[in-house]
Amino acid sequence: MLTLEYANCLADRVGVHGLDPDLFEPGAELDAACRHLTDRLSQSRGKGWERWRELPFGSFRDGHVRGVHEIVERVRGRFDNLVVLGIGGSALGNTALQMALNPSTYNLLDAVERSGPRLFVVDNVDPSLLSAVLNICERQGGLERTLFNVISKSGETAETAAQFMVVRDRLKQRFGARHAEHVIAITDPAKGTMRTICDAEGYATLPVPDGVGGRFSVLSPVGLFSAAMCGIDIDALLDGAASMDMACREHELSKNPAAMLAALLVELAARKGKPNHVLMPYSNALYGLADWYRQLWAESLGKQRDVRGEEVFAGFTPIKALGATDQHSQIQLYREGPNDKVIGLIEVATFGDDEVTIPRGLGVEAIAYLEGATMGGLLNAERRATEFALVESQRPNYTIRFPRIDAHHVGEFIQLWQVATAYAGLMLNVDAYDQPAVELGKQATFGLMGRAGYERIKARIDETTGTAGRVIGPSRG
Ligand code: PA5
Repeated sequence: MLTLEYANCLADRVGVHGLDPDLFEPGAELDAACRHLTDRLSQSRGKGWERWRELPFGSFRDGHVRGVHEIVERVRGRFDNLVVLGIGGSALGNTALQMALNPSTYNLLDAVERSGPRLFVVDNVDPSLLSAVLNICERQGGLERTLFNVISKSGETAETAAQFMVVRDRLKQRFGARHAEHVIAITDPAKGTMRTICDAEGYATLPVPDGVGGRFSVLSPVGLFSAAMCGIDIDALLDGAASMDMACREHELSKNPAAMLAALLVELAARKGKPNHVLMPYSNALYGLADWYRQLWAESLGKQRDVRGEEVFAGFTPIKALGATDQHSQIQLYREGPNDKVIGLIEVATFGDDEVTIPRGLGVEAIAYLEGATMGGLLNAERRATEFALVESQRPNYTIRFPRIDAHHVGEFIQLWQVATAYAGLMLNVDAYDQPAVELGKQATFGLMGRAGYERIKARIDETTGTAGRVIGPSRG
C-alpha cells in the first residue's frame, strides 16, 4: 500500500509553521472531526454526486469493465492510433494513466512492442495540436486504422464539440456511412446532446455514469477505455482503488490516509496561512497524475460560497512540480520565498527493471561518489535531501511513497485524492461537485461565437473588456 508520511507538517519539526501534534491524538479536535465526517461520507457514498465512490466495487464496476472489454476485444488489432477527444475531467485522467503505466516512448515503439494503438489525447482546441495529431495519424496507418474516442458527458462542451465536428466531417468524407466504425463515444447513457448524436449516427457508446462528475470519472469508462486499449490492467487499477477506499473508511484519523491528507492541508491553510499546495513527484511517470490532482483540488474546492450560501472564497492553489528537475527551478522559492505552501513529495521506492546503474571508471574525483550508484538511488537521495532542506527552512511537507509504479498503486493514489477531496469539501463546508464559476466563461464564449440567445452577454463583453486605447503594440482591431 502507499505510505503517507506527515511528521514534517507538525510543530515539532517545522516550529510555528506546523500543526500542534496534540490535535491529532485520539479523541482530540481533529480526530473527533474525522470520526464525524467519516460517518457522513459513509452515509452519502454511492448517492447523488458521490456515486464515483462505488466505481471500484460490485456490479457498478463489473458492468463498466465488461462493457470496456467487449469493445476492446471487438476492435483489437484493427487500429494503430487511438485519439481521445475531450477536455478537463474527460481527458486529464486518460493522460495521467498512460503516462504512469506505459513507457514515455510508447507512441514511438513498433506495433509489436506496444501493448495497443498509439494514444493521442487532444484536450484543447489549439488548431496546431489537432492538425499535428491528424497528420501523424494519416501518415502512420491512415484514418483507416485510426479510432476516435470522443468523451463528453454533456456533448455541449465547445472544445470537444469542435474537435468532434472536424473529425466526424473527415471520417464521413472518407468512409461515408461506415465512418461510425471509427468512433467510440463516452457520454451520458440517457440524455444530452452527445447521446442524441450517438443515437442518430449509430456510434458505439460507453457511459459516463449518472452521479459521476468529470473530475471524479477516471475510474469509470472515461479513463478505463483508453487505458484498456493501451494494455493497462484496469482490474488492478480498480483493485488498488478499492483497497485504498477501505483504508479511508477508518474512523481514527491516524489510520485514515485521505482524512489525514485533507486535515493537514485544510488546517495548515486555516491555522498557518498555507493555501498553496505543491505536489512534486520524483518520477516523470507520475507527473501526469500531478496535473490530474490539480484539477481535482482546484475545481472541487475553489468556491465563492459555502453550502449555506455564505460568501467564503474557499479553496487552495494546487501547484505541480517535478523532482529532481524543479529543484533547479522552484526550490529556491519554496525554501526562501513566502512561507505559504505545503509541499507534497512523491517517492517511488523501486524502479524495478527500469533501474539504471551509473558505471565506474571515469575516475574524476568530484563526481566519483556517483560511480556504482543507481539513478533511482540518486533520485530518492535528492527527494530526501529536499525534504531535509525544507524542514531546515521550516517549510511543512509530506511524502507519499509508492512501493513501485503499477496499476494497483496508481489506483490507490487516485482514490486517495478523490476521497481526500470529499473530506476537504466537508471540512470547508463547500459543494465539491459543482463548478458555477466555469459557467460564465462558457456563456461568454457562446456570445463571442455568435450562438443565438447570447447576444446580451456579447454586448456586455464589448462594453467591459474593450481596450479603451490602452494598448502597447498592434491593436486587436
Ligand atoms: O470536472 C468537470 O466536470 C469538467 O472538467 C468536465 O469534465 C469538462 O468541463 C468536460 O465536460 P464534458 O464531459 O461535459 O464535455
